[in-house]
Formats: sequence, C-alpha cells, structure tokens
Amino acid sequence: MGSQIWMRRLLILLCIFSCSFAYVSSQSVAGDGSVEGTVFIDGKSSIGKIDEDFICATLDWWPPEKCDYGTCSWDYASLINLDLSSNILLNAIKAFSPLKIRLGGTLQDKVIYDTDDNKEPCKQFVKNTTEMFGFTQGCLPMYRWDELNEFFKKSGAKIIFGLNALAGRSIQSDGSAAGAWNYTNAESFISYTIRKNYSIHGWELGNELSGSGVGTRIAADQYAADTISLYKIVQKIYSGAESKPLVIAPGGFFDANWFKEFIDKTGNSVDVITHHIYNLGPGVDEHLVEKILNPSYLDGEADTFSGLQNTLKSSATSATAWVGEAGGAYNSGRNLVSNAFVYSFWYLDQLGMASAYDTKTYCRQSLIGGNYGLLNTTTFLPNPDYYSALLWHRLMGRKVLSTKFSGAKTIRAYAHCAKESKGITLLLINLDNSTTVEVKVSFNSTWTLHHQKKHHRSYKSHRTRTIKLPQGSESTTREEYHLTAKDGNLHSQIMLLNGNILSVSSSGEIAAFEPVNVNLTKPIFVAPFSVVFAHLPYVVPACS
Ligand SMILES: *[C@@H]1O[C@H](CO)[C@@H](O)[C@H](O)[C@H]1NC(C)=O
Ligand SMILES: *[C@@H]1O[C@H](CO)[C@@H](O)[C@H](O)[C@H]1NC(C)=O
Ligand SMILES: *[C@@H]1O[C@H](CO)[C@@H](O)[C@H](O)[C@H]1NC(C)=O
Ligand SMILES: *[C@@H]1O[C@H](CO)[C@@H](O)[C@H](O)[C@H]1NC(C)=O
Ligand SMILES: *[C@@H]1O[C@H](CO)[C@@H](O)[C@H](O)[C@H]1NC(C)=O
Ligand SMILES: *[C@@H]1O[C@H](CO)[C@@H](O)[C@H](O)[C@H]1NC(C)=O
Ligand SMILES: *[C@@H]1O[C@H](CO)[C@@H](O)[C@H](O)[C@H]1NC(C)=O
Repeated sequence: MGSQIWMRRLLILLCIFSCSFAYVSSQSVAGDGSVEGTVFIDGKSSIGKIDEDFICATLDWWPPEKCDYGTCSWDYASLINLDLSSNILLNAIKAFSPLKIRLGGTLQDKVIYDTDDNKEPCKQFVKNTTEMFGFTQGCLPMYRWDELNEFFKKSGAKIIFGLNALAGRSIQSDGSAAGAWNYTNAESFISYTIRKNYSIHGWELGNELSGSGVGTRIAADQYAADTISLYKIVQKIYSGAESKPLVIAPGGFFDANWFKEFIDKTGNSVDVITHHIYNLGPGVDEHLVEKILNPSYLDGEADTFSGLQNTLKSSATSATAWVGEAGGAYNSGRNLVSNAFVYSFWYLDQLGMASAYDTKTYCRQSLIGGNYGLLNTTTFLPNPDYYSALLWHRLMGRKVLSTKFSGAKTIRAYAHCAKESKGITLLLINLDNSTTVEVKVSFNSTWTLHHQKKHHRSYKSHRTRTIKLPQGSESTTREEYHLTAKDGNLHSQIMLLNGNILSVSSSGEIAAFEPVNVNLTKPIFVAPFSVVFAHLPYVVPACS
C-alpha cells in the first residue's frame, strides 16, 4: 500500500503530552488519595526481544519429606509422584499453548536414569541429613519418564530437562566438586529419549554449581569442558534430526567472573546461559512483604540482569540469557506470601525487568510444589501468580519498549509491543497502599514525523506529541485489565480481574479474561495495591 494512502488513512490523534503538561511537576496531587503520573514510552526501537513462549515454570524432584523450618510444602508435586491425571493441571498448562517447563532443581544432580547402562537398583530419594542436599541419590524409572512425556505431549508443553552434572565427580575437602563429568548415563538417557521420539526443547547441565555454588561447586573451566561434551553428545545423537534441542547451562547464580570465564571457554557450544534468582532471601524471613513493596529493593536485581547482559555483549558468544529458575524466596518460599496476591508484584516486576535486559525466557519456581507454586499443591487450582503469568503471556508481545515512569516512586511500569494485535501493552504495578495513580501515556517522540517542536529545554527528549492509531481502526478506547486482591488483602490467594473473582470451572477450564474498555482521553487509574495491564491501540515504529 502506498505510503500516501497509508498516511491519509492514519488517524492522527493528539497526545496527552500538551505544553502545559510538560511543566507539571513530577508529582502533582490530583485529589483525595490520588496523584498524577506519566509513563514515557520510547516507541522508536525496542530494547529487547523475548521468546514467544517467554513464560516458563519448573517441576522439581523434591519428595514429600522435603521440609524447611519445620514445614513440609512439597507433598506429591515431584516429577516422580505428581498426579498426571488431573484435568485442572492439564488445562492449566494447555492454556499457554505452549508453556515452557523446566525439569530440575537441587536434587537433579543426584538423579540416575534407569536406562540399560544402569547397574544399580532404581531406588527413590531417602531423607538423610548427613548427605549433601539432605537426601540420598534417587532414580528416574523409564516408565515414569514415559508417563511424563505422554503428559507433556498432551499438554503441549516445551520441555527443558536438567541433567545431573555431578555424575563422576568427587567432593573435595574444600567443598568443591572435582573431576570431569561422566556423561555415560546422561548420554544413554538422551538416546532413550530420542528413540522414543520424545520432544525436548533443551538439555540443561547442572543446578546451582556455578560460582560459589549451593552444596558444592565446579570450576568454570571444567564446567565449560563438560558443556562442550554435552554439546557434542547432542550433535551426535540428534545428527539425523530436523531440529536439535538447545544446549543450556549452567543454571546457577550469577557470578560475574565465573560466568565470564565459562562463556568465553564454552564458545558456541552453548545456546542459552541460565541463571537463578532468589533475591528476597529465605522463606522464613518475616519481612518478605516489606521487601516486595519497596521499589529500591526490587530495583536491586537490575544489577544482575545488566551484569549478565554486559557479559554476553562483551563475549564472542551468540548465546542468550534465560532465568532458568526463580522462586524469589529460597527454601520453598513462604505460605500466604509466595502463593498469595502480593507475590504478583514481585513476579510481574521480575518479568518486566528481565525482559528489559533482553532475557528471553523466565522460569518460575515452581509450576507446582513448595509454597511458591503457580498452582495449589493439593487442589491444583491456580494461585494469583498463575493468572498473572497467563495475562502476561497473552498480552505482552516479543518486543520490549524502553519505559520510564514519573510521578510516583511506587509505580512500576513496563511496556511491550502487544501480542498478536496492533498497539502496545502497558504493565503498571502500584505498590502503594493508599494512593491511586492517574497515569497519562506519553511517547518519547524523537521518532515522530510531525512537529519536531521543542517545548522546554529540559524536556528535549520528549518533545512532540503525535501518535497513530492502527490503520482503519476507529478505536478511541483501550482495554484494561485490573488485578486486585480479594478484600484488599495482600495475603489472599484469590485474585480479582476488574472486580470479578478469577477461577476455574469444575471441568478445569480457566476463566476468560474480560477487559474493560476505557476512553483514551482518560488517564489510566491504577488503584492502591493493584496491577493493571492496558492494551493501547497506538502504533509506534518499534512495533510496526
Ligand atoms: C527516549 O529517547 C532517548 C534518546 O533516544 C533515550 O535516551 C531515553 O532513554 C528515552 N526515554 C524512554 C522513556 O525510553
Ligand atoms: C546417611 O548417610 C550417611 C553418609 O552417607 C551414612 O553413613 C548413614 O548410614 C546414612 N544414614 C541412614 C539412616 O541411612
Ligand atoms: C562412568 O560411569 C559409568 C557408570 O555409569 C562407569 O561404568 C564408567 O566406567 C564411568 N566412566 C568413567 C570414565 O569413569
Ligand atoms: C515423532 O514426533 C513428531 C512430533 O513430535 C511427529 O511428527 C512424528 O510423526 C513422530 N515420529 C514417530 C516415528 O513417531
Ligand atoms: C490449597 O488450597 C486449599 C483449598 O483452598 C487451601 O486450604 C490450602 O491452604 C492451599 N494450599 C496452599 C499451600 O496454599
Ligand atoms: C500504608 O503504608 C504506610 C507505610 O508503610 C503505613 O504507615 C500505613 O499505615 C499504611 N496505610 C494503610 C491504610 O494501610
Ligand atoms: C471519549 O471522550 C471524549 C471527550 O470526553 C468524547 O468526546 C468521546 O465521545 C468519548 N469517546 C467514547 C468512545 O466514549
């Protein structure tokens, strides 16, 4: 289509960012318990590109005997014993079509696979506090692997499998693990998997053994050599296959020096660099909520994201970054916090921040199990974060837009190109308990074709005011999704969407998400302790 016609058919809308507005101070009181603020979005180019299936959740190995601080929160949520016949579970996964699922966790480095080469009896983990990680070695029987794969196929999940990286090593007196990875058992497990035609999206090596490690650690140069071994095994076993699974490592906490050495020495034998996030501290901490509501505390994690992004940029690698496991609070989270409404503040903020630093996939610990499951361990019904994840998945597109908020420190703001529709999706989180924030949207306008007019010296970078509505669209409204806690209780496990309880039908169907349509001339009202997703019909160059 000719650009003339295209131009003519554009609806040029006057933006919100008028002269007078430019002089409004960064915080202005708009009435009782409310303030005005402005979200500035740079529509010129994107700053990151997430995977289509950015949302990922984990399944772990912990048996019911896993307890923390006297509470045992895992029940039957392990890869070994999870009830795969639940319709609620199946539909919860299907709803994402696809959901990435990463299989792994602490005990993965003590799992043997009961393939032909295995000469030992296939026994389950047994609690023993003198053992590393508190359990004996465990074993995955092949019939269970078959059942799991049948379930994964039915649910349409994309599977990342975390391999045992401690096989063949011995623990030294200084706590480190020495020796090369013995991949005999892993190789025969991968061969079994391809023989059965099970689809695996990625093979990941090890869990939390990078840097100073958890339980034990492996030196970066050894880990690089072992990852190259895994890469060769995958190339060999999948040599005839149309597409090869990703090779992923190290699945540990970011440590700048260790990661730099690992990335440099692994070269192009690794596709994805995974790191883990537990930035809220131990689940036993009574101040988790205060940390979550503190913007500077949340900002603290940006250093890790930018550190890894810079490490990747400064290396010759083409590998990308994923968060391979993030539960926020370690040692299984905290009941009525990490499985309650308040956790969506932390979780959605993490998804936004991770995306802004070009993280491609974010795996939440856990899909089910512990106190941080997206699903309730016994009923399998969604906790608030499940709905947050699904809304994100449906609304936030791949391209990430630079976004800044001015007007209230307690607002967290993120914007992406919209998913499967024109326009932009804005995510706003209000961490304040009593102030409604009236948000205006403004575009960083250095890209606009029109009015390169300056209003004020100090507003150089946001100086023009034209935005476009999608071609042919008469839309003068936007779609808003407001998430709040039942009765305003942050510890509630019930979440409301536009005032209505989110739930699952008796047959396990997830409720449809109904937005409210709001006139574009109105600001976005972000209530105290709420989350708003807003789909804006504006077309910006970064998204067209
Ligand atoms: C707007 O653009 C300028 C220059 O490209 C950039 O430095 C600034 O961070 C952008 N602002 C936002 C909100 O993205
Ligand atoms: C626990 O593990 C230790 C060290 O591996 C072993 O000596 C001990 O016998 C085990 N205890 C039980 C009850 O199995
Ligand atoms: C690796 O482990 C297997 C047992 O799974 C053993 O038979 C083999 O000798 C080991 N290889 C090396 C090089 O130690
Ligand atoms: C293997 O799986 C793929 C897709 O998962 C399917 O298209 C193909 O037909 C399967 N092949 C066999 C031999 O089962
Ligand atoms: C799971 O749901 C049941 C029923 O609503 C509730 O009693 C229980 O506390 C929930 N479990 C967790 C760990 O949240
Ligand atoms: C809101 O939070 C502030 C600071 O944390 C606290 O002092 C105040 O009591 C809270 N107000 C309400 C209505 O909960
Ligand atoms: C939106 O508000 C403006 C100004 O109040 C009004 O003129 C317009 O008709 C409204 N549009 C819709 C779709 O309600």
